[in-house]
Parts: sequence; structure tokens; C-alpha cells
Amino acid sequence: MKITNICCIGAGYVGGPTMAVIAHKCPDIKVTIVDLNAERIAAWNDENTDNLPVYEPGLDQIVLSARGRNLFFSTDVEKAIDEAQMIFISVNTPTKTYGLGKGKAADLKYIELCARQIAAVAKDDKIVVEKSTLPVRTAEAVKNILDSTGNGVKFQILSNPEFLAEGTAVEDLLNPDRVLIGGDTDAEGQAAINALVDVYANWIPKERILTTNVWSSELSKLTANAFLAQRVSSINAMSELCEKTGADVNEVARAIGMDSRIGPKFLKSSVGFGGSCFQKDILNLVYIAKSYGLDEVADYWEQVIIMNDHQKRRFAANIVKTLYNTVSGKKITFLGWAFKKDTNDTRESAAIYVADDLLHEQANIAVFDPKVEETTIFRDLDYLATRKPEENKAGVTVYQDPYEACRGTHAIAVLTEWDEFKGYDWQKIYDNMKKPAFVFDGRNVLNGKELKEIGFIFTGVGKAY
Ligand code: UDX
Ligand code: ADP
Repeated sequence: MKITNICCIGAGYVGGPTMAVIAHKCPDIKVTIVDLNAERIAAWNDENTDNLPVYEPGLDQIVLSARGRNLFFSTDVEKAIDEAQMIFISVNTPTKTYGLGKGKAADLKYIELCARQIAAVAKDDKIVVEKSTLPVRTAEAVKNILDSTGNGVKFQILSNPEFLAEGTAVEDLLNPDRVLIGGDTDAEGQAAINALVDVYANWIPKERILTTNVWSSELSKLTANAFLAQRVSSINAMSELCEKTGADVNEVARAIGMDSRIGPKFLKSSVGFGGSCFQKDILNLVYIAKSYGLDEVADYWEQVIIMNDHQKRRFAANIVKTLYNTVSGKKITFLGWAFKKDTNDTRESAAIYVADDLLHEQANIAVFDPKVEETTIFRDLDYLATRKPEENKAGVTVYQDPYEACRGTHAIAVLTEWDEFKGYDWQKIYDNMKKPAFVFDGRNVLNGKELKEIGFIFTGVGKAY
């Protein structure tokens, strides 16, 4: 089957960029991205690409190249489903906040709603592609819903997990290490797999397109994220030991990274990993392992999260301790709120948890982030439900200018590794700060030696200064 019409349900961080790149690379395929959120769709359709709902380097050019030609953003979910041969499900799968599996299992209600809607609308055979990260065997549930509530048409379910990282989404999509497609092993399943392979083969060498059974594909995604997160927690565990022993975690990372079996990537010690995937996927893995009675497997992976929580907490505790055991009433400036640089995404960002701890200590927090909006910052804090929204409002001030954010402050904490922080006029910042002037670099991006020469009391992660 040659695919000429694709629909994607969910215009978020995954659906938006992924479909934009497919449309850009496959001018003969009509790609329609639908979302229930009309505001989000309007933003994707905005003439001014600065207003796109997702910030990713290079994404504006990709969207401009295809939008209106073969790339469309719409709220008419039914029409798009009806017309498409292949439907990607790219809706959110947050961790459950209620009921059985609360705080661990993925909440699949949005997935189920999509499946029911596809079943209700479809009048001809469709290939349904899971793009969202899902627990193993979700495809089975989706298939059950489709087969038992549909209009007698046939559905093939494929798993095609997304490995893009935010901030490099466009590059990752244009030039992925691999594309993974899982499907049924019978002839119809293989035909569906081949149809999707042909879409990607428009720009990706065939040897980088892997095909597996559905379950391997679903589990590979969770495994990849668990391994990556584990590396960060491993180096962060060593960072605490480095601080005590006089070792420098950057030197240790470099030394081990040169071993080709270990490799140099994902060994940057930090205030802790964030993002929508790592924690959610590991919790999910833990939940699945537990549900099969595999307690040792579950405990093993849970430790990655425990270490990450510890890293965030000890960063906040170190600020309090260094500032003479009290931050009450003191202005503390956060440079960065996003979970990493080059994205406006803040989901599970370490900044949220460090802020929460410092607010408990009655600090006044000033935040500057080059891409994150004020409403997002308050939404993140309110979502924790650890204090009333008006208390968050009273405790946090968001600035548009980094120098103003740092004026009169007792301490600066770097929470995101934005490149621009390195180029600031640190002498000017120092001159306008309370003394002694403290910098806590949670990303090891600043030049500690230079800052100390200016007069700052400087602390990074994983090195005794
Ligand atoms: C991740 C996976 O990389 C991607 O393949 C998957 O599709 C989604 O989840 P993402 O969450 O966008 O992508 O970001 P990633 O670059 O993996 O970083 C995750 C977190 O780990 C960030 O908070 C980052 O700052 C932190 N990190 C990463 C470190 O602290 N140290 C490192 O060495 C690498
Ligand atoms: P991700 O990072 O996985 O892309 P996002 O939260 O950024 O997650 O995006 C998911 C999108 O899916 C949201 O914009 C949400 O409105 C949309 N969505 C969720 N359920 C449905 C549905 N049943 N139909 C259409 N869109 C949906």
C-alpha cells in the first residue's frame, strides 16, 4: 500500500515536529495534524512562526516549507481520521495522578479515547501507529477497542516510538540513529510495516530502519530511556562522591567516556534530569515489572529515580546550608527554568523541585529563562499543590531581563544550561548583588575560576571548589 494521506492525533512536542518533518520530506503525502486544543492549533497556523507552540531550533523553517502545501493543522479530528490511510496517535500519556497505579502507571485515557474515536469514524481499513511512549502491550488494548467497536473495517497496529530529544528534535528527525517499527508478524502486519518503512525511506537509509514485533518495539523505547536516565543518575551519584573526595566529576566523566565501551555521551553531571519522558518511562517500567511480580527488577530501576530526587534535593539543601542555614526573606535568582537548554518545555524540570524546596524555606525566588513564559512557571508550581497559588505568586517573581533578575540578589542558581548564561557580563552582575555573592552552578556551564576571580563564592556540581 502506498501512503498518500496521514493524520496525526496530538499536536504536541512529539506530533508537531515529527509530522512537520514527514511533510517536509514527503511532498506527495498529505499530512494533517489534529488536536482538541484549538488554541494550540491556532498557534501552529500562526503566520508569525515565533508563536509556534513548540520551540525547536530549525522547526520554523520546516513548518514554513510545508504548511499549506501538504501540511495542515486542524481541530476537525473526525474528518482527518476519515480521510487518512495511516493514523499516528501522538497524545500525551502522563503518569496517573489518581487510583490504581497512581504516581507510577501511565494514564492511558487519552489513548483509549483516540482508539474509540478512530473506531467510530473509520469507514475503510486503517493503519494505526502508536507514536506516544506506551507501556508494553498497549497495542493489544488499542487493537481490542478498535476491533470490537469498529464498523467491521480492518486495523493494523504499529508501534513506532519516537526517540527525538527536545532541543535537537529537527536534527534528530532529519538524521535519526535509527527508526524502529514494530508490527504483527503475519502477512498483513508485514504489509503495514512496509508501508511505514516506505514513508521513512524517503529520507532515511533503509539499514537504519529496524523492524521488530510490536512488543519488542514498545519495550525498546522504555529501555532506551531507562538506560539514558540511568547514566545521568550514575554520574550524579559519583558527583556527590567527587565533592567529598576532591575528585572532579568532569575529569572522571572524560576519563571513563574515552573508553569506547562506555562512550562519552550522557555523562554530564547536573542538578538532576527532567523532561516528560525519563521519570515517566521509568515509573512505568517499575510498574510493569511489579505487576509481573518482578520486584528485584522494579527496585533496580526505581533507584534511578531515587538518585535523581536526591540530586535535586541536595542542590537546594546546599544553597540553604551555604547561605548560613537560612534563605528566609532572601532573594535567590534562578537562571533557567526549562528542563534543558533550547526548549521551552518545563515538564519535570529540576528547577520546579528546587524552587519548591526553597519556597518551603521562605526564600523569595526570582526567575529568568530565555524561552519559558511566566504563566508556565506558575502553572508548574501550582501543579505540585504544595501551597496555595497566591503563595506561589507571592514567593516567585519572573523577570524578562537577566540583569534585573540578578539585581540585589543573595545567590544565583543555574538550573538550565542555556548558552547565553556563559556570555553574561558577570562583573556587572557581581557589582549589583548582595555580598558575599554566591553562584550555584547546577549545570557546570560557567567558568568557576573566572567567577571566583571576580569575587563570587562559586559552587558547581561534582567538584570541591
Ligand atoms: C529523552 C530521550 O533522550 C529521547 O530519546 C526520548 O525520545 C525522550 O526522552 P529529552 O527528554 O528531550 O529526550 O531530553 P534529554 O536530552 O534526553 O535530557 C533529559 C534530561 O537529562 C534533561 O534534563 C537533561 O538536562 C538531563 N541530562 C542529560 C543530564 O543531566 N546529563 C546528561 O549528560 C544528559
Ligand atoms: P507529547 O510531548 O507526548 O507530544 P503533549 O502534551 O505536548 O505531549 O501533546 C499531546 C497533545 O495531544 C496535546 O496537545 C493534547 O491536546 C492532544 N490530545 C490529547 N488527547 C487528544 C484527543 N483525543 N484528540 C486530539 N488531541 C488530543
